[in-house]
Amino acid sequence: MKVVFLLPLILAICAANSIARKNKDEPEKDWWQTTIFYQIYPRSFADSNGDGIGDLNGITSKLEYIKELGVGAIWMSPMFQSPMYDFGYDISDFYAVHDEYGTMEDFEALIKRADELDIKVVLDLVPNHTSNESMWFQEALKGHEKYYNYFVWEDGIIDENGNRQPPNNWLSHFRGSAWEYREEVGKYYLHQFVVGQPDLNYRNPDVVEEMKEIIRFWLNKGVAGYRVDAVNALFEVDKEKFGGKYPDEPPSGKVNVDPGSYDTLQHIYTKEQNETYYMVYDWRDVLDEFKAKDGMSRVMMTEVYAAIENVVKYFGEGDRQGAQMPFNFDLINDVDSTSSAADIKRAVEQFLTYKPVDKDANWVVGNHDNSRMATRFGPPLVDGINMITLLLPGIGVTYMGEELGMVDGYISWEETVDPAGCNTNDPINYVAYSRDPERTPFQWNAEKNAGFSTANKTWLPVADGYETLNVEAENAADRSHLKLYKALADIRQNKVFRYGRYESLALNLDVFAFRRWHKNDAYVVVVNVKGNDHIVDLEYFENVDGKVQVELTSVDSPKNKGDKFDAAALPVAPYEALVLKVK
Ligand code: GLC
Repeated sequence: MKVVFLLPLILAICAANSIARKNKDEPEKDWWQTTIFYQIYPRSFADSNGDGIGDLNGITSKLEYIKELGVGAIWMSPMFQSPMYDFGYDISDFYAVHDEYGTMEDFEALIKRADELDIKVVLDLVPNHTSNESMWFQEALKGHEKYYNYFVWEDGIIDENGNRQPPNNWLSHFRGSAWEYREEVGKYYLHQFVVGQPDLNYRNPDVVEEMKEIIRFWLNKGVAGYRVDAVNALFEVDKEKFGGKYPDEPPSGKVNVDPGSYDTLQHIYTKEQNETYYMVYDWRDVLDEFKAKDGMSRVMMTEVYAAIENVVKYFGEGDRQGAQMPFNFDLINDVDSTSSAADIKRAVEQFLTYKPVDKDANWVVGNHDNSRMATRFGPPLVDGINMITLLLPGIGVTYMGEELGMVDGYISWEETVDPAGCNTNDPINYVAYSRDPERTPFQWNAEKNAGFSTANKTWLPVADGYETLNVEAENAADRSHLKLYKALADIRQNKVFRYGRYESLALNLDVFAFRRWHKNDAYVVVVNVKGNDHIVDLEYFENVDGKVQVELTSVDSPKNKGDKFDAAALPVAPYEALVLKVK
């Protein structure tokens, strides 16, 4: 009698338990957790008006291409009004579209089209600095107090010869002093990047408020979040703690660094000040104001090149939330074509190890500041690296052209425009610094300027080899990097890749492999990072035995979809990359 009475209760508890278990196994995921973010460098993607410079209408016209890739979100490098000393990272009006890129109406049309295609649009927020041509800086020079206080000013030092010198030894990322004198106010201003990028003063509450207004302005236009530029440079040390003068930074002690370059100092007073993290958490609150209104999460990705324990601080602290995606640059900083399978394993696992357990990893192998993935790892590894970034647990990020295997272009000294290259004043060694090679125009087809523009001269020349390496050719080929990329974007929606667990092995010096599994399904991804043949034993993975079946292959693989192999003796060709289904 009692049992009968309790039965409904027992059943209800069992049901609740199974729901809890199901949710734990297959937790509901938000849009940004399952998508691929595709970075567009607007100047180089598509030129709609034939002036040799990419623009917003160009991007809008190519959104269908992005949709077909299987990508659900784009992040765009700055498209705000700018004199282009640092190609848009020097913003003269944060509330306007750069005239070479189009108009506000063009921007709104881009958002509308993206919305129709269900593609989210993320903008680049550049909070650390403005342009010296901004109204704010111009007003500051005129002595307008409100705007004067937007910047960081210091008196110079008079040396023994009576010459005026910068206040201290701080260096610009683009070499030389980080201080520039302005006659109008008789002081030096701080610029951690080019002279045309005066740093904003985050110890001034007006600046903090202004930046929040900028964030809200574009969110109101329908953007889905921000990539935040150079965020660890936001705050300088509080000079009041040093008797009112900013102290010198100590030497880095690094060997083999160029005298005068940024790397000669340890940036203990200009980077990673604690206040920075709290600023980021405050910005997340602004994003969440919008989520509270319409239920859609706005995402934040932070650009920070730093030690991993500092990178992960951007995720949040206690109950303060921060960026959903502090960019993981380990596959840019720590590995390249010289790396062994073990090096790759270590680089992959660093972020997974240090990130908070309840946060998502993200995988980045390139951007507009670093040599292209196909160049760093070598063209034969393109498919293997795309398999790694798209099939590891976490969020995939692609820099435009990685889906094609685009390589760096050659840019002569005469053609160099990037300040990081020009400021070397060195027609030979500029190559080590210039970021122009990874910014060459996108390769659409084999026509003039790779189909990027009808102009006679494009802002940077198109890279060699575009006649065969382009979207049209890769769509037409039986096998291509592009076709594999689309297949990877597709397979990553499988529950194994969406929810599955992960383990990895360096099977020998050259072969990196990882297993993803969920319930009774499992895949193994095998990447040979070198040009040697191997036979590998996948039975070193738990629950992998008998046969494995080929699902996807790198372009030059001798294997075909559906081929079966003994897990204990899988032949692997040079640079071969495979996605295998475990039977
Ligand atoms: C970031 C950008 C880079 C720019 C710098 C200054 O590192 O990615 O392109 O030059 O910030 O804004």
